[in-house]
Amino acid sequence: MNGEEKMVAALDIGSSKTAVLVARLDSPENIEVIGVGVSPSTGIKAGGVTNIESTVKSIKEAIEEAEIMSGVELDSVVINVTGKHVKGDNSIGVVAITNKDRIINQSDIFRVIEAAQSIRIPADQEILHVLSKFFRVDDQGGIKDPTGMVGVRLEADVHIVTGSTTYMQNIDKAVHEAGIEVADRVLSSLASSYSVLSEGEKELGVAVVDIGSGIIDIVIYVEGGVAYTSTVGIGSQHMTQDISIGLKTPVDAAELLKKRYGTVIAAEVDKDESIEVPSVGDRSPRMTSRKLLAEIMEARMRELLELIDHEIIRSGQKNKLAGGVIFTGGGALVDGLASLAEEVINLGAAVGHPKGFSGIVEKISSPVFSTATGLLQYAAQYTDFKTDRKKNTGMLDRMKNWIQENL
Ligand SMILES: Nc1ncnc2c1ncn2[C@@H]1O[C@H](COP(=O)(O)OP(=O)(O)OP(=O)(O)O)[C@@H](O)[C@H]1O
Ligand SMILES: [Mg+2]
Repeated sequence: MNGEEKMVAALDIGSSKTAVLVARLDSPENIEVIGVGVSPSTGIKAGGVTNIESTVKSIKEAIEEAEIMSGVELDSVVINVTGKHVKGDNSIGVVAITNKDRIINQSDIFRVIEAAQSIRIPADQEILHVLSKFFRVDDQGGIKDPTGMVGVRLEADVHIVTGSTTYMQNIDKAVHEAGIEVADRVLSSLASSYSVLSEGEKELGVAVVDIGSGIIDIVIYVEGGVAYTSTVGIGSQHMTQDISIGLKTPVDAAELLKKRYGTVIAAEVDKDESIEVPSVGDRSPRMTSRKLLAEIMEARMRELLELIDHEIIRSGQKNKLAGGVIFTGGGALVDGLASLAEEVINLGAAVGHPKGFSGIVEKISSPVFSTATGLLQYAAQYTDFKTDRKKNTGMLDRMKNWIQENL
């Protein structure tokens, strides 16, 4: 990259907050975060825009804050995509190697990936990612990069992620109205996995589970490649609602109680311990047992973990996850999560934080920033293409995308 410095920016539009990060790169590996902007988000629910106006406002605020901190004026950002409209499917492509020497070259790889994409995609869906798991050359499987190998038959196993065009147009509209453009889109779970996982963990087999405010994003890696992607349409906000109803307290107060006194292991809370709970309306606060708070939280978290387990089982890969489950996203900060998860899911569990950045690391090392920091990593990988690459993706661009993502 000629020692030249480049800027990249990420926009994570979440159900509870909009986050913008600006970073300086002197190589794809050295990402120095120089600007952070965070603004409360109210117009997004589980990935979808429910109110354009407030979404635009939230994006504007976050952008402005990040611009002021970094001193960089942003014109385009890499954004996250999530929601029920996103679909992940495995597919196989097969081509014959017809060159005289039968040596596999890049154009064969393009062809086989194209063949793998010929699955039926519903009319309103478009391709977001084509992620290779491995190639097979004749009878030899498990190949990461077949370039230069000799064979007659080349097969590619890929994971294809598609998303609703309408959904993406709505997000594009909001971003555009906030005064910037979308440079690229990345599946939220994939972004989070970039910032919290090591290559070794991907090889070992691991599930990354980002528990947000309104949605849970899941990606499963087996033998280094993406085997499964999915979402569950509830999140940590539902726990707050349960607390609000169960303890008859306003939602804001429930949110504070959850963070300050909460745990999902009720058995560890002394039954005599009490906490002050604000009442609704003008009534004065009451004292309530902290154990009751923990019981409400544990019940909801067990339900979330069972839904997550259901997804892991559905992937057909549960017995291949030697690396266990890595939880991230703001909802992963709740006390006691890893031990409850080990009990419910019966796999190793840990909380993953974004790593591998320099600059303003203290703030962005929270699991709340896993998606946003992962978007930066994605942007950093592509930055060479960025300068002359037109927005959006013809087949050739998609191939470049694919090669970048996988080789
Ligand atoms: N210390 C904590 N203990 C418990 N929960 C927490 C803590 N810190 C944050 N949370 C919860 O994490 C959630 C916010 O997480 P995050 O910022 O990852 O969500 P988001 O990206 O805005 O939403 P989504 O990804 O669902 O669209 C909130 O529900 C918040 O209550
Ligand atoms: Mg999120």
